[in-house]
Amino acid sequence: MYVDLGNALDAEPRLTREALERLDERVADAHDRIERGRAEAAHGYASLNLPETVDPAAVRRAVDRFDDPAAVLSVGIGGSALGAATLAEALGTDLDAYVLDNVDPARVAGLLETLPLSDTVVHVVSRSGTTAETLSNFLIVREAMADAGVDWTERTLVTTGPSGNLRNLADRHDLPVLDVPAGVPGRFSVLSTVALPVAALAGHDVEAIVDGARAEADRLAGSLFESPAYAYGATCHALERRGAGVNAMMPYAESLESFAEWFAQLWAESLGKDAVGQTPARALGATDQHSQLQLYRAGPRDKLVTLVRPRERPDVAIPETDLDGLAYLGGGSLADLLDAEFRATEASLAASNCPNVRIEVDRVDERGVGELLYGMEAACIMYGELAGVETFTQPAVEWGKRAARGLLGGGDVDAEDAVPEKRRLV
Ligand code: PA5
Repeated sequence: MYVDLGNALDAEPRLTREALERLDERVADAHDRIERGRAEAAHGYASLNLPETVDPAAVRRAVDRFDDPAAVLSVGIGGSALGAATLAEALGTDLDAYVLDNVDPARVAGLLETLPLSDTVVHVVSRSGTTAETLSNFLIVREAMADAGVDWTERTLVTTGPSGNLRNLADRHDLPVLDVPAGVPGRFSVLSTVALPVAALAGHDVEAIVDGARAEADRLAGSLFESPAYAYGATCHALERRGAGVNAMMPYAESLESFAEWFAQLWAESLGKDAVGQTPARALGATDQHSQLQLYRAGPRDKLVTLVRPRERPDVAIPETDLDGLAYLGGGSLADLLDAEFRATEASLAASNCPNVRIEVDRVDERGVGELLYGMEAACIMYGELAGVETFTQPAVEWGKRAARGLLGGGDVDAEDAVPEKRRLV
């Protein structure tokens, strides 16, 4: 992963090279803490060890039992869904890959109508094994399979933690189970048994994803000037301190649209604590040049824009034309056009003093995606260290889960305690 900070400096909010040099001492200390956490496999820090601890062969063995499915359905939510969505979209698949995370009845009913139930592998993922959305969706899907005469136990793979309702259900029906690795919070679990099975089912080279992550791990160092991931995390933190409360993630590759969603979860749920944290915004180049760019360029001076692109991509030629006004397009290609749009946006933001960072990978392939995902996780952890927040907890998310269970009579909390009386204005 390559990170270019040139346009992040001396813009508005103003961050100088000298300020980054001063911050670098704290980056070195933070790097030491991170390395200690990794050595102890401490909660959260263990995520950065996944390139060494994950077993791609075990993932492949777990999916090999399903021969040639037409579709894969990932049932999970948050960190138990967005990684799979990101990998499936970024790497592409001959399978139909679906993710069922929300519990919108219209979406669930529509999906069940289109899904080839007898030819679908269901990968149900919940670290806690208790998440209401995931378990409800799974109960619905397995009943639909049973109603269609499909032996759902033969079509289901479970990834879960050591205990919980999902573990109990898997044990009762003797389902194949992959363990969620210890010490890895949901939003840091993409490079594990949580999301890799979908890539394996789609026939992708899981080892190459892990190799990419390992290459990025090898670039972590005690100076932001030597580590692309830490350069990005430290810069985001420094800019937030100076007023860039919004970070717009804008990949120039449609296959990275879900990556922006994954990034938004990583950033928001990890860093939104103690009244700090950058609010992630999601955009897509070049589409959002025709909408959100207006705000980024000329709206409140509270933004950093992160532009992501592959250095190489598949291409489509633009046909020649004898129309004078279009001659500059004819004979060119869509990749050249998209790259010109990228550079135009970068220049446009720089000209208006909006800080922006360029992040590149060689290609959106297994290795490139491994680098990018690992790099963003390391960046997030560095940011959390510098901001002094508890990167690996999510008390607000847990509050919501508990409250919803309380309202539904879920057992461990009373409805009145779970959700206080709603305030009314009139
Ligand atoms: O990052 C997180 O911790 C959350 O987004 C969880 O992944 C999400 O709430 C789902 O939890 P679980 O995997 O326990 O079902």
